[in-house]
Amino acid sequence: MTVLITGGNGQLGSELRKLLDEKKVNYISTDSKELDITDGNAVKSFIESLNPDTIYHCAAYTAVDKAEDEGKETNYLVNVEGTRNIAKAAEQVGATLVYISTDYVFDGSKQAEYTIDDETNPKNEYGHGKLEGEKIVRDLVTNYYIVRTSWVFGEFGSNFVYTMQRLAETHDKLTVVSDQFGRPTWTRTLAEFITFIVEENVEYGTYHLSNDGSCSWYEFANEILKNKKVEVAPVTSNDYPQKAYRPKHSIMDLSKSKELGFIIPTWEDALKTFLSKLE
Ligand SMILES: NC(=O)c1ccc[n+]([C@@H]2O[C@H](COP(=O)([O-])OP(=O)(O)OC[C@H]3O[C@@H](n4cnc5c(N)ncnc54)[C@H](OP(=O)(O)O)[C@@H]3O)[C@@H](O)[C@H]2O)c1
Repeated sequence: MTVLITGGNGQLGSELRKLLDEKKVNYISTDSKELDITDGNAVKSFIESLNPDTIYHCAAYTAVDKAEDEGKETNYLVNVEGTRNIAKAAEQVGATLVYISTDYVFDGSKQAEYTIDDETNPKNEYGHGKLEGEKIVRDLVTNYYIVRTSWVFGEFGSNFVYTMQRLAETHDKLTVVSDQFGRPTWTRTLAEFITFIVEENVEYGTYHLSNDGSCSWYEFANEILKNKKVEVAPVTSNDYPQKAYRPKHSIMDLSKSKELGFIIPTWEDALKTFLSKLE
């Protein structure tokens, strides 16, 4: 088995490397310097010579707000053209491609959970780019998994948990948006899921994977900081304007992933385990 990870130094890529190390699975991990996915020729020759069985495509442009203006072109180059390069090369060598997508492919107006076949309607540039990536993967690759996730946190890189903890060190009171609802996702759960679907050779297609349960950012912050001496106060999205549109209600239905027999911890349990490992 030859395994390739793109974006191997990102939040998910780093967690995946750690998990594969534990499983004693060999892999080749690349960052943007070793393999710039926007360079079609480089991607083609790298993947042709490596001839991987599985590609975990974790590389992405994830600066959601920057993608609205100064990062607009990079968002397109990395998330659309970069994914096209990876998809073409994956198909060329007959590899299984795991592409990570996002809840931002939905507009967040649905009050119930988003099912996999619900109509997509991205409202920001990043969401448009990731959805284009999904379409490219479906069009070009025979053996593909598209895994949509949301609100990712974990040991590696910057994320909401670390931001809240850092701010709590220097503030008596934090205000956090209470009218956007979603499902936090621990990178460990996501890494376990994407290796599970590959190892178990489950049916190709699109899956949703986040931790179970749901919350607002305000509730998430409260849980993160419940043992800290800091007041967390709710504010509305209008009080906290951001460049990129954020879905109000981006809770994705997890039933297809659960039906595989994969046990999905609740976000509270995942967060508790993660925080206990940090101590
Ligand atoms: N973070 C979230 O909340 C979230 C939510 C939903 C979906 N997702 C998706 O989950 C996946 C993993 O996200 P993440 O949070 O792990 O992202 P991340 O921490 O931002 O990592 C992304 C990695 O992509 C690499 N990359 C960027 N441009 C590249 C290029 N041109 N060529 C090669 N590599 C490049 C970066 O490598 P360098 O450091 O070398 O530049 C970076 O390490 C992505 O597909 C993302 O869209 C994330």
